[in-house]
Amino acid sequence: MTTAPTTSLSGRTAVVTGGAGPLGRVLADALATAGARVVVVDLDDAACADAADSLTGSGHVPVGANLLEPEGLSRVVDAVHDLGACDVLVNNAAFTGTSGVPGYAVPFDEQTDDAFAMALALNLTAPFSLTRRLAPLLRASGHGSVVNVSSIYGLVGPNMGLYEGTRMGNPAAYAASKGGIAQLTRYLSTVLAPEVRVNAFAPGGIARGQDDAFVERYERLTPLGRMGTEDDFRGVVTWLASDASAYVTGQVVAVDGGWTAW
Ligand SMILES: NC(=O)c1ccc[n+]([C@@H]2O[C@H](COP(=O)([O-])OP(=O)(O)OC[C@H]3O[C@@H](n4cnc5c(N)ncnc54)[C@H](O)[C@@H]3O)[C@@H](O)[C@H]2O)c1
Repeated sequence: MTTAPTTSLSGRTAVVTGGAGPLGRVLADALATAGARVVVVDLDDAACADAADSLTGSGHVPVGANLLEPEGLSRVVDAVHDLGACDVLVNNAAFTGTSGVPGYAVPFDEQTDDAFAMALALNLTAPFSLTRRLAPLLRASGHGSVVNVSSIYGLVGPNMGLYEGTRMGNPAAYAASKGGIAQLTRYLSTVLAPEVRVNAFAPGGIARGQDDAFVERYERLTPLGRMGTEDDFRGVVTWLASDASAYVTGQVVAVDGGWTAW
């Protein structure tokens, strides 16, 4: 009799970047609920500690680190090496369309080269660097899985009409970095095979109290008729991190209510 692969992450160590943020906390909790010990990486020590304490189970490890700085990247890698294991890496930290970086989430003609470079550094270079430096532990795991967080805006161009009359933006650097991470996923999936699987998921817009006009337009353009919630991504991260997806690599799973299906 063969045994079906399960979503259990019992005995595994999972690193989640941006793990104190709204989506990162929920992804971390999904993995903790499946049995993983979670390393919560985010900018602020106290926020990481608070997030790690809030997760299901115990033994989770907070690591305050700025992923834009070489020392921050090294702090994460050193902390994970001290634990001696890395089975799952979730690259979730990013500058999003609402990040207040000057010259970033502003009209196209005002977007700056500096903001573009900074967004690529956090959204694309940091996932590359962490994956490269944790690859030896991921390979040694026997179940290594990297899960990158892309976006619908890494798959399709923005409909700028959505934003008319709102304070929200949709920066070119976000699209480039999220498209880049989708392709980095495919690259890493072949280069790190067969020991490590590498996949991504592409969330649609998450409801966070955006302007009513935006939400109404967004919902009209979404086949499932609503924006996402953080909980909508528990299933995909658990599936991609675990042996339930043991024969899946190099894929970008859109979890977007059908936004990219039109
Ligand atoms: N919110 C959405 O609608 C949406 C849609 C599609 C994709 N996504 C993606 O989901 C992921 C999480 O989104 P979110 O809305 O929770 O983002 P968020 O901006 O609310 O949270 C991101 C987290 O990353 C952390 N972070 C920022 N800079 C950092 C740095 N230099 N070093 C370490 N940590 C840093 C922040 O402190 C924060 O906790 C991102 O990759 C985003 O692109 C979000």
